[in-house]
Amino acid sequence: MFSKRARDCVANHGRFTVAISGGSTPRPLHRLLGQEPYRSDIPWTGTHFFWVDDRCVPETSPASNVGAARKDFLDHIPIPTSQVHPMPVAAPPEDGARQYEQDLREFFMWDKSDFPAFDLIFLGIGQDGHTASLFPGHDALDERKRWVVAVKGGNPNVSRLTMTLPVLNRAREIVFLVSGKGKAAVTKAVFDESSTRLPAQRIQPTKGRVIWLVDRQASTLLSKEITHVKR
Ligand code: 6PG
Repeated sequence: MFSKRARDCVANHGRFTVAISGGSTPRPLHRLLGQEPYRSDIPWTGTHFFWVDDRCVPETSPASNVGAARKDFLDHIPIPTSQVHPMPVAAPPEDGARQYEQDLREFFMWDKSDFPAFDLIFLGIGQDGHTASLFPGHDALDERKRWVVAVKGGNPNVSRLTMTLPVLNRAREIVFLVSGKGKAAVTKAVFDESSTRLPAQRIQPTKGRVIWLVDRQASTLLSKEITHVKR
C-alpha cells in the first residue's frame, strides 16, 4: 500500500508527502521501510517525510518520535536529508510550533484558500482516544486557524508539537494503525459511538479517505466486521 501510494503520487504530481506519528504501533511498519523489498521499491528521491507530532525532547531520548524513526528506517534508506522534515523540538515549544507551520507553508507554497494536503498521514490512537497529540478536552482540538500548536500532555507528559485537525483533515488519505488488546475498548468506542467526543472521532477528512488498519486483538469488541474503507 505504502509503496504503491508513493509510486502513484510521484508519477502523478512529482512527489509523495507523508506525515507519520510516533508511539510504538507504527514502529514495525517503519522498520519494514528500511528493508527489502520496500527499501528498493519506494521512490525515495520523490518522498518527503513530516511528523504529525513529536515530543519536545532530544532526538536521543527514547521518547523522541524522530529519533525512533531515524533508528527504525530513516538511517537505512537513500532519502535526501532535505526531504526529511523533523519538528523543531529543541526550540521553546511555542516558537517551534510557529516555525514548523512556517516550514510547511513554504514547502506547500501555501494557498490562502486551503490547508496543506498531505498525500498520506499515519495516525495512531491512545487508550483515551487521543490521536496525534490532540488529547481529550484540550483547547488544541478547537484550533481552526493554526496548522501546528504546542501542547503538554500524554505519556510521557511532556511538551509536544502537534498538527491540528484542519491540517490532518485536509489529507488525501489517512491511515490509522491500531494494535493490541489495550486498544479494543477505544476502537469499539470510535466505531460504535456516533459521537465525536474522542479526538480520533474528529478525524473526518474534507476530501480524502480514512483507512483503519486494526489488528485482531484491537478489533475483538467491534460489533461489526469492518471490511471496507471507512469514509
Ligand atoms: C505520539 C503519537 C500518539 C500515538 C498514540 C498511540 O507521539 O504519542 O503520535 O498519537 O499514535 O499515543 O501510541 P502507541 O502506538 O504507542 O499505542
